[in-house]
Amino acid sequence: MTSIRLTSLSHAAGCGCKLGSNDLSEVLRHLPAIQDANVLVDAATRDDAAVYRLSADRALVVTVDFFTPIVDDPAAWGAIAAANALSDVYAMGGRPLLALNLVGWPRGIVPFEVLGEVLRGAAEITRQAGCLMLGGHSIDDPEPKFGLAVVGEVHPDRMFTNAAARPGDRLVLTKPLGTGILTTALKRNLRDEAGLAAAVASMTALNDGAARAAATAGVRCATDVTGFGLLGHLGNILAASGVGARIEAARLPVLDGALELAAGGCVPGGTQRNLEAAPAAWAPELTAAERFICTDAQTSGGLLLAVAPGRLAALLSGLEAEGTLAAAVVGEILPQANGLSVVRGAEQ
Ligand code: CO
Ligand code: CO
Repeated sequence: MTSIRLTSLSHAAGCGCKLGSNDLSEVLRHLPAIQDANVLVDAATRDDAAVYRLSADRALVVTVDFFTPIVDDPAAWGAIAAANALSDVYAMGGRPLLALNLVGWPRGIVPFEVLGEVLRGAAEITRQAGCLMLGGHSIDDPEPKFGLAVVGEVHPDRMFTNAAARPGDRLVLTKPLGTGILTTALKRNLRDEAGLAAAVASMTALNDGAARAAATAGVRCATDVTGFGLLGHLGNILAASGVGARIEAARLPVLDGALELAAGGCVPGGTQRNLEAAPAAWAPELTAAERFICTDAQTSGGLLLAVAPGRLAALLSGLEAEGTLAAAVVGEILPQANGLSVVRGAEQ
């Protein structure tokens, strides 16, 4: 429909150019401290969304997410951005209710008909989620940006947080890793859009089934894996829960081609920064590519769930019934003194 490559208008290398984890500490300290008994989750635990209790059995889940184009197909970009924004509601155990579009658009450079495709792609995903798209806000912007603000709800006693992991819990991941590396390959002309189909299918898949299976299995600790990569988001769980963890790299589900591309140096800037910031003890046998997979900046990644060992089998069969793209046991929560380590481990 247009000869303009959306990704060429994005200065970010495939990761939406999220600020780094250390940058975020700088930003968050400027937020005022909140003293309100109905605020169940705020920024202090770096959770995926804020949670505000309305009554004993209802709480609002509120979140916002947007980024620059990571694929050239405008409808796919809209769909990915929508699935990514909705995911933060699912990562809290919630159900999305309402959404608003956030749009930055290079007026006069990219036709509005392309924006129409972005909105159409997003609306298809919110429809799948049973979430009502009610409007939004747009600005003239040299760099296209798109995302959603989402309001959902959760029962206050059944929400998932970063703070509920306990030593002995198993870590389960519900989508493959590698979307940052693969979308960077598109930007660098190492892959065409057809070669990105599996990554796009993963990024547009809702985490609703994973959240349902987790809730049914009694999971209380979850996050979704996005810009800070697996280890960065796991790090938020470890800090909020006061625990350590061990990841087994051989058990990680990985999109086809991502390891080879990373080994050849196709690594987004965000992934590099995540690796530099990761406070992990790496087993010496791990290759550089394996380490990049552990820190690859994901867009619309899967849920990372911490589940008590006695509930693991129920969770895995629930994930299988929901047809999640992965249901991989990738590690274990340990006491805090163990810190965070990554070993090769055994393939499942
Ligand atoms: Co998130
Ligand atoms: Co988010």
